[in-house]
Amino acid sequence: MSRKLGLTAASAVLALTLAACGGEGAGSGSGSGGGGSDEEQSIGVSMPTQTSERWIADGDAVKEQLEAEGYTVDLQFAGDDIPTQSQQVDQMITQGADALIIAAIDGTALSSQLQAAADAGIPVISYDRLIRDSENVDFYVSFDNFKVGVAQGNALLTGLGIANDDAPDGTATGPFNIELFAGSLDDNNAFFFFDGAMSVLQPKIDDGTLVVKSGQTDIEQVATLRWQQETAQKRMEDLLTSSYNDGSKVNGVLSPYDGLSRGIITALQNAGYGPTIDAANPMPIVTGQDAEIASVKLIADGVQSSTIFKDTRLLAEQAVIAAQAFLEGNEPEANDTESYDNGVKVVPSYLLPVETVFTDDIQSVLIDSEYWTADEVASGQAD
Ligand code: BGC
Repeated sequence: MSRKLGLTAASAVLALTLAACGGEGAGSGSGSGGGGSDEEQSIGVSMPTQTSERWIADGDAVKEQLEAEGYTVDLQFAGDDIPTQSQQVDQMITQGADALIIAAIDGTALSSQLQAAADAGIPVISYDRLIRDSENVDFYVSFDNFKVGVAQGNALLTGLGIANDDAPDGTATGPFNIELFAGSLDDNNAFFFFDGAMSVLQPKIDDGTLVVKSGQTDIEQVATLRWQQETAQKRMEDLLTSSYNDGSKVNGVLSPYDGLSRGIITALQNAGYGPTIDAANPMPIVTGQDAEIASVKLIADGVQSSTIFKDTRLLAEQAVIAAQAFLEGNEPEANDTESYDNGVKVVPSYLLPVETVFTDDIQSVLIDSEYWTADEVASGQAD
């Protein structure tokens, strides 16, 4: 109740201030500007970028589901630019958002915005990426990110034919040359993915089944700022030049995200690998994440080995459930209250499961669930 009253008062002041300043600024979306009334509560949804289709799908799914519940939604994408995201969140607050759902670009960069939100009594839901170093994060909805990494590590082993928990029948013993890639170090998830993957790969490195020929096995060495495809392509090119100029071959690449996988595959193709895993000079086993349509096509075509499917519709649903609970004065139900320490507190979380997708799983996991149609998979483009 006090949360709501505090918010309404703050909203009124801020709305007046905004009106005096001449109305909407750059980047404003469909926000009501007068949030706080019980009839029309408004929710600010801040997504990192539109360069990856998963975030577009997330944004659309959250917006659609919130609107179906009768909320007004201000959905903004920040173009992977930290100041833009800060400004967009600031603006959501000044326009009277009643709740915020944020997938941060840099998990540590929004502290002052979150303080302003807390001062205005606005609950903050951290979406997929944990917002760090702030007391003012009320809830976290995500997937089990450590398990994503474990699934990626196992998918690499499965692709190479090495026995693992997901495919105990593997008989290959190696040694296989692999290289490792990680995500952006300002994204908390990057550490969970990498640690999860290394929990299954490190023992195989230690026993000689896998060889990281470059010697680059620390997350700082293998990270990819802002998850940029071109950066991954460049690093793969550099690795081929520096570590594989003696006629040795790369057999596998741990990649944490489909966009990076496509950059890595391009570098490998340019160096004469492929075109497919079955080719005479085989494309290495490359993992991925997000089931982006361009990568699903590559998997269907036998070029990329696997991806990890995270159903953004279900994540959106959990974000909506959490927002609704807060707006009704309740605490959302968490299914994990231990894993996600943001540096200041353990943030109560709702974590969803993930699925590994190889070629044979595309129909049952992605098409049957209507995430992608058969036509989209065939063309490699979303309709
Ligand atoms: C998400 C991944 C995504 C990556 C790059 C991570 O925070 O959890 O699903 O692949 O960001 O966008």
